[in-house]
Amino acid sequence: MLTVLAVSLAVLAGSAAAKGTPTNHHAIAQRQDANTPLASQHFNYNSLPYQADPNDGERGRQSGYNICNSTTEGPTSQCQTAIINSLDDFCLWGPPVPNSAVGDTEGQSVAWCTKPGHGTRVIPQGAITGAQFMRTPDYIQITGLINQVLIDMAADDGGGEMDPHGADQRGNPLGGLLFTNAWGNGYTQAIEWHNFMGSNVFCLKACDPKGAHAADYCQHVFDRIGCQYNAPAAYVDGEFTSCLGESQDFPGVYTGADGVVTTYQQPPESLGPISSMPYTARIPASSSCTTFTSAAIYTGQPTPSVAATTSVAASTPASSAAAAATTPAAAAKSSAASKSAATSSAASASGNAAGAPAKFGMGGVWSIAIGVVGAAVGAVVAL
Ligand SMILES: *[C@@H]1O[C@H](CO)[C@@H](O)[C@H](O)[C@H]1NC(C)=O
Repeated sequence: MLTVLAVSLAVLAGSAAAKGTPTNHHAIAQRQDANTPLASQHFNYNSLPYQADPNDGERGRQSGYNICNSTTEGPTSQCQTAIINSLDDFCLWGPPVPNSAVGDTEGQSVAWCTKPGHGTRVIPQGAITGAQFMRTPDYIQITGLINQVLIDMAADDGGGEMDPHGADQRGNPLGGLLFTNAWGNGYTQAIEWHNFMGSNVFCLKACDPKGAHAADYCQHVFDRIGCQYNAPAAYVDGEFTSCLGESQDFPGVYTGADGVVTTYQQPPESLGPISSMPYTARIPASSSCTTFTSAAIYTGQPTPSVAATTSVAASTPASSAAAAATTPAAAAKSSAASKSAATSSAASASGNAAGAPAKFGMGGVWSIAIGVVGAAVGAVVAL
């Protein structure tokens, strides 16, 4: 019943075939571009090309564009330049047409952002029911819960992974770019990133290219084990927090009780569903969290045009924006514009306990999660 994700196992690099001898300088440039993996190309936010990938290939052409502005903004935007700045200002990759499975549309996914201003689609009011922004020395990350039908995902879609790789190295989506201003000096391209969407759960991690292990923290080969293993965090519904934290273990790498460090080998889909996992991902500690209300930070969002499913709201007591808005912590906290974590609430409920195991599965790991933590899954990811 649960969709197994389309594979974007990008372990095979450079599959593009030679296409003949270029006849002029322009052709040389274009051919080089076609053979250069998307994640090896660097772009300047202020001088983006219309399409990061102007080439043709086995998967066709880039479906959207990277120059996004006020004329492209709105419900039909095909913008494929995403942003992750802060708890109140980030985008997720979602389908271009309603009721889609991520596995069918990942190559054409478009940016859905929390606020207007990026030339994208804007996530409707109430869709995000809980979120945590985490900044560590190695990456920034947004994790949370979303009523996924409101960003055109099918209600029962277990989802999949978007990243700048894919078997043909053109990215999912093709030509998809991610930028952030969180590392200073204007917008920086997050060369390595991953975004899991599914089962009403999301996680998006952007790895700082200045770090020595950007590709490790934003690993793209564990596409079948979801947010729980790729971006372990608290995932608390009804809470909206911005935190500082320690970096997680590299996805797929874990330390056993005997101290032995092991790298998980994800089995191929041909072997069937993943029914058990040899480990539970360690949730890294958060050092300080600032709590907000969704009403205060998610402004300018459109009213949903399709009915929300009840799977998120019905399964948890405090999932709606209204419920979050009544949280006492809200009023006391600073505005969404402040990204300073200096005003911390050390004991924020949605901070991460040091070393705590993940609580439930999401975004592609429900079957694993059921094996690992049993009934807790049902409480949050009702299917
Ligand atoms: C706005 O974006 C569209 C789509 O990428 C592009 O064709 C157009 O030139 C842009 N307009 C401006 C003023 O940059």
